[in-house]
Amino acid sequence: MSLQVKALSKSYGNNIVLNQVSFVVQPGEIVCLRGKSGEGKTTLLRCLNRLEKPDSGQILIDEIDIMVENKGLSIAEKIGLVFQNYNLFPHKNVMENLLLAPRLLKQGENEMKKRAVELLKQLGIEDKADQYPFQLSGGQKQRVAIARACMLSPQVLCFDEPTSALDRESIEGICRIMLDLSKQGMMILIVTHDEEFAERIAMRSLVLEKGRMTEGDAKGDDTKFNLFVK
Ligand SMILES: Nc1ncnc2c1ncn2[C@@H]1O[C@H](COP(=O)(O)OP(=O)(O)O)[C@@H](O)[C@H]1O
Ligand SMILES: [Mg+2]
Repeated sequence: MSLQVKALSKSYGNNIVLNQVSFVVQPGEIVCLRGKSGEGKTTLLRCLNRLEKPDSGQILIDEIDIMVENKGLSIAEKIGLVFQNYNLFPHKNVMENLLLAPRLLKQGENEMKKRAVELLKQLGIEDKADQYPFQLSGGQKQRVAIARACMLSPQVLCFDEPTSALDRESIEGICRIMLDLSKQGMMILIVTHDEEFAERIAMRSLVLEKGRMTEGDAKGDDTKFNLFVK
């Protein structure tokens, strides 16, 4: 099982944002995606999450193209996104935020409620189920966004600038969560400007520049895990 992106291209008018971008992510890998502002990092995440339609190219999970219609939602829902500003629904409480997508997809209500409770517990915010987003700190909102993205058991989880609004302690927390998820075999793709964070968390990095994707400095090795698994 892997995520394979093949020759993905996306333009807005004359602005070629993604130009035949290709890369592979393996199960359990944490990959940081870097690049200057405006280079197309968010656009790439939006394409992976089908919020934006690429002009050409393929996005494959387990060799199956997630963009091909009528392959069924089970494949299309295999990639989740934690938005930069979390995008929680302000008028819905935490539990309702988590249950929204499963309800739209007509998933079993009881089973999904159980899953929501489990995820909140795993993320250390089980006591927040009835709270509204405005009652939560930035770090807590992010955890809710992660729980929501995990509801449909994605194999790939994307984060857009996850540390931009967090204090040091919350960054520590998010590192642990990402490592936990990766140990469960999830593929994690993180867009970040935060050098220190990338240095700590990334097993590998990719760089987007002028529409092209290249491998960053080869510094990936498993010793990173040892920093966290104390
Ligand atoms: N919906 C859109 N319509 C037109 N241009 C867009 C749209 N979204 C992004 N862009 C353009 O695509 C380029 C990449 O944007 P973005 O993916 O947000 O970059 P990054 O996340 O790397 O800062 C920018 O030039 C931006 O202006
Ligand atoms: Mg962006």
